[in-house]
Amino acid sequence: MNILHISDMHFGPRHWDGDDQILLDMINSFDADIVINTGDNTTDGMEDECAEAGRFLKGIKCKNVISTLGNHDKRNMRSHELFRKYIDSSEIITISKTIKTTKKNLFLNREITKVDENFTDLNFIKSISITGKKVLILSIDTAELYSDEGYVEKEMLNAVSKEIEQLEYDLLLLITHYSILGTDELPLQNSAALIDFVQKHKIEYVFCGHTHELEIMQANDLYQGHSFIHSMCGSLSSSNHPNDDNMFLYYENVGSEDMHMHLIRIFSEMERVHFKHEIIF
Ligand SMILES: [Fe+2]
Repeated sequence: MNILHISDMHFGPRHWDGDDQILLDMINSFDADIVINTGDNTTDGMEDECAEAGRFLKGIKCKNVISTLGNHDKRNMRSHELFRKYIDSSEIITISKTIKTTKKNLFLNREITKVDENFTDLNFIKSISITGKKVLILSIDTAELYSDEGYVEKEMLNAVSKEIEQLEYDLLLLITHYSILGTDELPLQNSAALIDFVQKHKIEYVFCGHTHELEIMQANDLYQGHSFIHSMCGSLSSSNHPNDDNMFLYYENVGSEDMHMHLIRIFSEMERVHFKHEIIF
């Protein structure tokens, strides 16, 4: 099973000047079973930006392209609707408005906003069979409406847990915009809740973005004996990558002893796009 990981495209003012078709051709030259997109598809969650991001994602020749939202995608009260319209229309898991929650703006007041859908948190599970293995991909919304800091709703994690418990699977993958281990200046405020969730379900791979910097870590819980790989990809095509290059990651033979991780750095200079391919291990 091969997974390709992209993040932080930032369509809109923060999208790069490079040629997107050359980038798509390079992505499509890899034999990915799953493409994971860890958010910040847009600069400001605007409709034209979501539409452009959606067009780009449809250009990826893989039938399992799975996305989440970032803080930049949740900057207006229609962001969640636009994400579902243009980027990923998977059926989301909801919770009742009567449950006590702590995430801000989880439910919008429809009488004031007049948005069609007043629940702003987009969490879903995709079940995919690849070479005889059942893979569950959990897309967990760690972005909070109108905020650049992340927050995950514990009641939402409880609802996702209940769904997982009813499903059969061989491998669990988590995709989230914010790092659950990182110490970014705009972090996931209650990352401990998501770390507990990863340990509870023995999730083996966590994919994230947000900082525009590459960071590949392995976490080992020596008491519970659980280990997971935490993979933070830099930006794919942002004009803002202050401490690293644009990039994507390719994980070959995931879950086997012959697993390899490839880093493809992307450079756009003088209207030319070129790539540097490195095998991390
Ligand atoms: Fe972000």
